[in-house]
Amino acid sequence: MPADQLPGDYPLWHPFTQMARFEREPQLVVARAEGNRLIDTAGNEYIDGVASLWANVHGHSHPHIVGAIQEQAAKLQHSTLLGITHEPAIELGRRLMPHLPGRSRVFFSENGASAVEVALKMAVQYQANRGRPERNRIAALDMAYHGDTLGAVSAGGEGPFRDVYEPLLFEPLRFANAYRYRCDGCAAEPACTDACVDSLRDLLEARGGEVAAVIIEPRVQGAGGMIVAPEGHIAAVRALCDEFDTLLIADEVATGFGKTGAMFACDLEGVTPDITVLGKGITGGYLPLSATVTTEEVYQAFHGEEGRKLFHGHTYAGNPICCAAALASLDLFEAADLLARTRERAALLSALLAERIADHPLVGEIRQQGLMTGIELVADRDTREPLPAEREAGWRVCLAARDRGVFIRPLGDVIVLMPPLSIEEDELAQICEAVAYGLDRVPRG
Ligand SMILES: Cc1ncc(COP(=O)(O)O)c(C=O)c1O
Repeated sequence: MPADQLPGDYPLWHPFTQMARFEREPQLVVARAEGNRLIDTAGNEYIDGVASLWANVHGHSHPHIVGAIQEQAAKLQHSTLLGITHEPAIELGRRLMPHLPGRSRVFFSENGASAVEVALKMAVQYQANRGRPERNRIAALDMAYHGDTLGAVSAGGEGPFRDVYEPLLFEPLRFANAYRYRCDGCAAEPACTDACVDSLRDLLEARGGEVAAVIIEPRVQGAGGMIVAPEGHIAAVRALCDEFDTLLIADEVATGFGKTGAMFACDLEGVTPDITVLGKGITGGYLPLSATVTTEEVYQAFHGEEGRKLFHGHTYAGNPICCAAALASLDLFEAADLLARTRERAALLSALLAERIADHPLVGEIRQQGLMTGIELVADRDTREPLPAEREAGWRVCLAARDRGVFIRPLGDVIVLMPPLSIEEDELAQICEAVAYGLDRVPRG
């Protein structure tokens, strides 16, 4: 629907959207979706290049997931998990655990941010329940994104997501992230210097006795700009958490369910976090569900008297229809080697990006882990000088890509590609062509 067709009484206020811009720009009104494509009200097709906000795993309208949702909807639509239980949630808990070795308990919520809130509260209460109430601070990565509710924003990095809400937030203890492209310590070095891991060590040496948990987005910091940490980073953080006797929270809301080429990013390094946060892809991207998964040790610290329980819970937590969708998604993971297929597709994507995108004068760095990809645009490739925000280069590339039948959404001047795992080879080629087309349409500065 072009902008001039937006009705005067348009009622919506969109998330993370400047509505003045929205009202100016041509609108994509999605009517339905099939496979890896969104289809608008005029019948135009767009490849879903960001998997409907990093959530869609198996493509849209997959009959197995749709069927499971329909079947469950006819049986039990909702029943609370506060003090009573239901089969789809029990079954999902059981089926998730083999994918999460070393963990045994799952607490359901409805979105990633809520599951992060649960993780933060669990960490602080875990320490209090074990008689260490002074361990009540959270250590978090620079440029982190853990969601948009207040606890999650508190743990998130500084910047527009956070600054204006500062009076409402808690202050985490921060440590450096592995942003090699812009790291003073190692940008010019042939390999990562581990300066970021050292900054966590320094923090824990100085203030470890105050830290309830260290929270990371393992391997890929998503909303911070698709920042890919080097191999070994997760294991190094785990080792420091062990050394300083604090919990590790891995927020796998973005990285979970195959997108990195492993089921979970922590699997890439054989790491077992104390608390794992899952969301987005858990239902294949069909319905809202999230989970905070813990080791038995964390769970046991809450077991016993009334006052030790976790004071948290949402009305729709673990909704049975959402659980049925998640079970159907797990069926698809277990029926075929989707992870091997994803790694093959990721290798193809990487070759296409090298061939079509990497040499473009606006492209500073391409970062990729599995199908999670960030293309950082810069004003000057040699100096790495960022583009002026007013040029809105990232946004322009993504808007232009729609003319080539591809829907993508940037993070500032980082173009994000994160297609469903079900993406086909020709669709990957189309995505890369559309990005190249978009890059050529950014006005010269
Ligand atoms: C790492 C991470 N954690 C948490 C969230 C929040 O998830 P939700 O938007 O479902 O609340 C996101 C969303 O992008 C995320 O990338």
